[in-house]
Amino acid sequence: MAESDPKTMAAAGDESPQIPASVRAFLDRPKRMFIGGEWVEAVSGRSFDVFDPATGEVIAEVPAADATDIDRAVKAARHALEAGEWAKLVPADRERLLWRLSGLIEANAEELAAIESLDNGKTVGMARMVDVAAAIDYLRYMSGWATKIEGATLTPSFKGIPGARHVAWTLREPVGVVGQIVPWNFPLLMAVWKIAPALAAGCTSVLKPAEETPLSALRLAELVEEAGFPAGTVNVVTGFGETAGAAIVEHPGVDKIAFTGSTEVGKIIGRAAMETMKRISLELGGKSPVLVLEDADLDQAAARAAGAIFFNHGQVCTAGSRVLVADAVHDDFVERLAKAAEAIRLGPGWRDDAEMGPLVSEAQRKRVLGYVESAREEGARVCCGGVAPEGAGYFVRPTVIGDARPGMRVVEEEIFGPVVAVQRFSDEEEMIRLANATPYGLAASIWSNDLRRVHRLIPRIKAGTVWVNAHNLVDPALPFGGYKQSGLGREHGREAIHLYTELKTVWMVV
Ligand code: NAI
Ligand code: MG
Repeated sequence: MAESDPKTMAAAGDESPQIPASVRAFLDRPKRMFIGGEWVEAVSGRSFDVFDPATGEVIAEVPAADATDIDRAVKAARHALEAGEWAKLVPADRERLLWRLSGLIEANAEELAAIESLDNGKTVGMARMVDVAAAIDYLRYMSGWATKIEGATLTPSFKGIPGARHVAWTLREPVGVVGQIVPWNFPLLMAVWKIAPALAAGCTSVLKPAEETPLSALRLAELVEEAGFPAGTVNVVTGFGETAGAAIVEHPGVDKIAFTGSTEVGKIIGRAAMETMKRISLELGGKSPVLVLEDADLDQAAARAAGAIFFNHGQVCTAGSRVLVADAVHDDFVERLAKAAEAIRLGPGWRDDAEMGPLVSEAQRKRVLGYVESAREEGARVCCGGVAPEGAGYFVRPTVIGDARPGMRVVEEEIFGPVVAVQRFSDEEEMIRLANATPYGLAASIWSNDLRRVHRLIPRIKAGTVWVNAHNLVDPALPFGGYKQSGLGREHGREAIHLYTELKTVWMVV
């Protein structure tokens, strides 16, 4: 099926991309991995292609790391941690380096936004305002933590040594070499979410970007070098999950794994990490409900529910992919939501008038359209979208699925695309039951102006974040992570520092 309404398709994807000169220069440089402060190819000499999702054309070739390269990166990170320059730095030095890196990202913001757009498909405007801006803020927030990591003094009650006095305290020490594996939906930002707290805490990192979107992490590595981080502090390896990713997880020299990605891979990583008892933090999938009560401001709720799912093309772990609407306002709400979806203009990320770009890959488009097909087969109603426009690129029209019911795949499974399933509820009890009827528990939003009711509902929702009259808000200071199968641990804020430190208890008899 195809559609080509000029109002909703800024370009079919067959124009030549407008690429700034700085990005062209970056693309033209041979791509190497950053290991131990050096730019290296994979030992095997292998590489793989990177695509522009708006055209399907190859834009770069990057090294394909395997276990040999990972071993090299882990050894470099270990050396930096224990014997290199990094080990000699005081907290204020780490703070200054992180701050300097944030400044370099700021100075190269336009180039990074263009790289991100070209590699991932999102619009340059979005990459600039969200990915790059948030990466800068995140580094600055985390830089401050380097000098604020503290333990406690405690008084033991132990009586077993007559006449002795006891002094005890706790120390927070860097957890060690961390393996950090990130996905393709916010490539630069996810890399920064990982390295910033790790470096603030004094760890060293082996970072692997997703095979779909390795470019901004390689540019970030150049800026890490320029900022003056000692060799081996941050190592960036490019490669596939099953080879490079798995080798990081299995390497005995890695002390902790931090992963963002699918729940399926999160479970594989969790099991493998236990082999050497690595610390793990997992930020996984979601099926976050948007709960629209009958007293909600419908115009606002519909516009923001559209944002909750269509932001970043629905390729967001907290995407509001299930909307539950009170019977009384259901039809009205669905109409408004569909209207908002239909108005979204698709186009390649570099076009100023594009509001939504292509999905990240052909595989992802197939997967997303497969879900729409399953909804049709299972008797739901495709209110709008559900099609891929004609022409090149991995575009999918924003899609609203009505009459969705429990048991349908679009209700049960994470789609990770611009597809929202709308269900109705008749009372609060049914709403809570439906909201929690999922193995996921990343986030939820409640849309209502009835304060007392909202306060009663918040504790009943099993999710790591509950927003009220908002969705998809994230801040470096606020803990972020999932209940249930949405993950393990909380990133951001003080919690992130806890993820990257071991707690040591010291007990002295005096
Ligand atoms: P994925 O979970 O396979 O990939 C994420 C990262 O994990 C990539 O860097 C990949 O190379 C790595 N990886 C894959 N297999 C690995 C393994 N065995 N060991 C170590 N690392 C491994 O996600 P994928 O295949 O890109 O997307 C599939 C689905 O996963 C999406 O449709 C979406 O539902 C979900 N997903 C969720 C994300 C989130 O933020 N919660 C992000 C990306 C995908
Ligand atoms: Mg995968």
